[in-house]
Amino acid sequence: MGITGSVATIKVNELNDLLCSWANVKIIATKSSLNFINKNENKLAIITDENEWNTWSEIGDQVLHIELRKWADIFCIAPLSANTLAKLDHGLSDNLLTCVARAWDFKKPIYICPAMNTFMWNHPITNTQLTQLKSWGYEIIDPIEKELACGDIGLGAMENPEVINDLLKKHIM
Ligand SMILES: Cc1cc2nc3c(=O)[nH]c(=O)nc-3n(C[C@H](O)[C@H](O)[C@H](O)COP(=O)(O)O)c2cc1C
Repeated sequence: MGITGSVATIKVNELNDLLCSWANVKIIATKSSLNFINKNENKLAIITDENEWNTWSEIGDQVLHIELRKWADIFCIAPLSANTLAKLDHGLSDNLLTCVARAWDFKKPIYICPAMNTFMWNHPITNTQLTQLKSWGYEIIDPIEKELACGDIGLGAMENPEVINDLLKKHIM
């Protein structure tokens, strides 16, 4: 899994619990996403950019983002922020999460669950970027409508963890 700096990252424990009932789960966290994680929560197998550099010192050492892309049978970024969506569209790879995505083999499934404010979601660039990602093989789990963390009501909330879990499980099993 990948998690980003969307407020929907507060659901990571719930999604992780569901996924752990049938899969080995590793969570790649962007720096912003860590603001939504309870620091005392040690149940999650969180991997960050620091791990990428701590585990490499010389030629011959394993490169973490390549090991992770080989290890995973499926990659799901839930939630996907507007910022990381834009990075994926442009092929940027400036952190561990976007490096794994950039090195992804599209013979294996890759899912994204966008989650953002309704006005961000409705911005025309969102559709342009998602259409591009879809053409490469990304599977998109659309956001749902509800009262968002900012108080606005509308489309943009991450799909429910149960629904995400069911879709991933069906794809793999
Ligand atoms: C409290 C708070 C909530 C946020 N929620 C969202 C969100 O739901 N979706 C989103 O795209 N960005 C959201 N942002 C903005 C992102 O955190 C910001 O764009 C960040 O650069 C994303 O970094 P990342 O894509 O590397 O994780 C939020 C920011 C704050 C301070």
